[in-house]
Amino acid sequence: MTSHHHLRVDGQRLWARLEALGEVGAVRGQNGERGNARLALSDADREGRDLVIGWMHDLGMEVSIDAVGNGVAVRPGTDPSAGAVMVGSHIDTVRTGGWFDGNLGVLGGLEVVETLAQNGISTKHPIAVAFFTNEEGARFQPDMLGSLVYVGGMALEDALDVRAADDGARLGDELTRIGYAGPTPCPAAAAPHAFFELHIEQGPVLEDEGITIGAVTGVQGISWTELIITGQSAHAGTTPMRLRRDPGYVAAAINTGIRALAREMGGTQVATVGRCEYSPNLVNVVPAKVTMTVDLRNTEEALLRQAEEVFAALCEQLAAEEGVTIERRTLARFEPVEFAAEQIDLVETTAKRLGYSTMRMPSGAGHDAQMLARVCPTSMVFVPSVNGLSHNIAEFTHPEHITAGANVLLQVVLAAAAPG
Ligand code: GLV
Ligand code: MN
Ligand code: MN
Repeated sequence: MTSHHHLRVDGQRLWARLEALGEVGAVRGQNGERGNARLALSDADREGRDLVIGWMHDLGMEVSIDAVGNGVAVRPGTDPSAGAVMVGSHIDTVRTGGWFDGNLGVLGGLEVVETLAQNGISTKHPIAVAFFTNEEGARFQPDMLGSLVYVGGMALEDALDVRAADDGARLGDELTRIGYAGPTPCPAAAAPHAFFELHIEQGPVLEDEGITIGAVTGVQGISWTELIITGQSAHAGTTPMRLRRDPGYVAAAINTGIRALAREMGGTQVATVGRCEYSPNLVNVVPAKVTMTVDLRNTEEALLRQAEEVFAALCEQLAAEEGVTIERRTLARFEPVEFAAEQIDLVETTAKRLGYSTMRMPSGAGHDAQMLARVCPTSMVFVPSVNGLSHNIAEFTHPEHITAGANVLLQVVLAAAAPG
C-alpha cells in the first residue's frame, strides 16, 4: 500500500469556499469586519444550504436530506460493507456570528474529498460530509438539535414541534418553508464508522499558548435555563422601594449571583445571562415581567449539578425576598462528553507528524461531535481563534491555521477510511 503521508489540501480553495459561504447572510461591523447572520431555517440558511449542496454535487457526491433537514453527502468507498467515515459540522450561525464557526468543519470535509479525488485516491470506507440542522441553538432550543435527532437522542416529532425563541415559528414548518424537510429517515439507519469535526477553538487558549492544533478530548456539560420572573408593574415615582415586587431587580441579582457562583467555584465553571427582556421596558415603569436565560457549563458533571443547585437556591431565595414568582424551564441539558482515546491519539500524532505544534484540550463550546460521540468513535481538531473571539462578527482564524487544520483532518480521515 502506498503511503499518502505527503498529501496536502489546497488551502486557497478551502479559503475561497469559506469566503463565498460567508457572503450568504453577511453582516458588516463598524470597522468593516464581515460576519454572518444565518439563523437556523431562515432564508439565509436556505441560501447557504443551496450553495454547499451545489459544491457537493460538483464533487460528484450523492446528497441526502433527512427529516430534520440534516444534509449528508457521500463519496463511496471500495468496500460495500464498510461504514462511512463522517466529517462535518453546521452552517447555521448565531445572529452575530462569524464565517468560520461550523462552516470550517463542513467545507474542510469537502476539501478533503476534493483532494482525494484530484489525486485519484480511493478509500475502503465511504467518506460522508454532513451539515447538521440548528447546531447553534440561537433560534431553536436545544442546540445541536439536528445531530441529536440524528443519533436518536431526541424524538423527531418533538424536534419538529420546537418553537423559535424569536418569532415562535415551528421548526417543522420552517423546514418545509425553506424546502429542507427531506425524505431520508432520521435518526440515521446506521451509525458512522467514525466521526471527525474540524472547528475553530472559539476561545483564547491555542493563541495564548502559541499552538496550532488542538486535539480535543471532549466537550463540557451544558445547562440552559429560561426564567420567567413575574412581579408587580407599578409607577417608578410613587412606589416606595420597600413595597416593590420588581422582576428587573431580581434579574440583575441573578446575573450578579451566577457570576459570583462561577468565581467561587473556579475551574472550568462559566455562567452567562445572554438574553434578558424587560416588559414593558419603559423608563418610568417597574417592570411586570422579565424573561431571561442562564447558560451554565462545566467539564465535570458533578460540579455542573452543584452549580445548578446553587443557581436554583438563589432563584428561590430572591423570589421569596422580593415577592415575585420565577418559572424555570430547561432549554438544553447535556452532560460532559469524553471523546474516544484512539481518535484523540490519532489527531495528536497526526498533527505532530505534520510538524504542527499541538496540545490536548477540552472544548468549551457545544459541537455536533458531542452527539455523534454517542454512536461512534469521535474526536475534533481545533485551530486558533484570533483574540479568542467567536459568536462575534470579528471572529477570525489565519489562513495558515485553516490550512493546517484541514491537513490534519485530511490525514486523520485517510487513516480512518483506509486507502485502497
Ligand atoms: C453552541 O455553539 C454553543 O456552544 O453555545
Ligand atoms: Mn460551531
Ligand atoms: Mn457557534
